[in-house]
Amino acid sequence: MDGKTALLDIDHMTIAFGGLKAVNDVSIQINKSEFVGLIGPNGAGKTTFFNSITGNVSPTGGGIVFDGHSLTKKRPDQISRLGISRTFQNIRIFPKMSVLDNVTIPMHSAPSYSMWAAMLGLSKVTRQQKETEKRALEFLSDLGLEAYKDREAGTLAYGLQRRLEIARALAASPKLLLLDEPAAGMNNDECNELAELLRRIYKNYDLTVILIEHHIEFVLKLCDRIYVLNLGQLLAEGTPEEIQSNPEVVRAYLGSRRTKQ
Ligand SMILES: Nc1ncnc2c1ncn2[C@@H]1O[C@H](COP(=O)(O)OP(=O)(O)OP(=O)(O)O)[C@@H](O)[C@H]1O
Ligand SMILES: [Mg+2]
Repeated sequence: MDGKTALLDIDHMTIAFGGLKAVNDVSIQINKSEFVGLIGPNGAGKTTFFNSITGNVSPTGGGIVFDGHSLTKKRPDQISRLGISRTFQNIRIFPKMSVLDNVTIPMHSAPSYSMWAAMLGLSKVTRQQKETEKRALEFLSDLGLEAYKDREAGTLAYGLQRRLEIARALAASPKLLLLDEPAAGMNNDECNELAELLRRIYKNYDLTVILIEHHIEFVLKLCDRIYVLNLGQLLAEGTPEEIQSNPEVVRAYLGSRRTKQ
């Protein structure tokens, strides 16, 4: 890293569950506009690492600073408002609601009208609702989901539900987007399509991204830098080229992945 201030600065973080250190003394710095990969074997601590950034688990040691704010004592909703959004390893959407409503909910711009105004159907309310819907449709269109806007979200095909989750994450206007295995269960063609889509939204929305993924080619193609976690500890950090040729990474992780794929 060069000397400039990182957008996300994780300093000697440890997360223990009883006797198990799921994340063990890990330091990571991410600059604005980087697309960074986080890889490693099952149980390495990757999702736990995300959970600590979003306030879903509390670190037992170390610090997390995002955009000048310490996150260690903040709630998930406060962290979301500071500009961090995520998707989950197991898809989380509202399956019984429409695709469009799934996206308008996270658009947490508080309405600037009163409940009375809403009940009386005043024009400002209608205007604001129309504006929100227009913006939500733009998110759906960017994710190729506009045609499904009125569908019950839970009836969408798996790959489309994954995209809806990304649309929901974008709707909260993040600076930093955390993606936890967005390509899980996808074949090569679907992976390629998703990679193109992620590249596009990364550019168009001026994002910084951290990507957890077991599809290695997908990570190598998208990321500027990659961190490797193993048994809760940082095993390596480097460019895709450096990571691929790092013997320790090949031994602990890449060797077995490459033979499986
Ligand atoms: N809430 C929890 N309570 C206790 N142990 C937990 C908890 N969450 C995670 N762990 C444990 O922490 C370790 C790291 O889990 P984590 O889910 O972060 O791994 P991962 O790298 O995301 O793995 P995968 O690639 O399989 O998703 C595992 O041993 C897991 O069982
Ligand atoms: Mg995980």
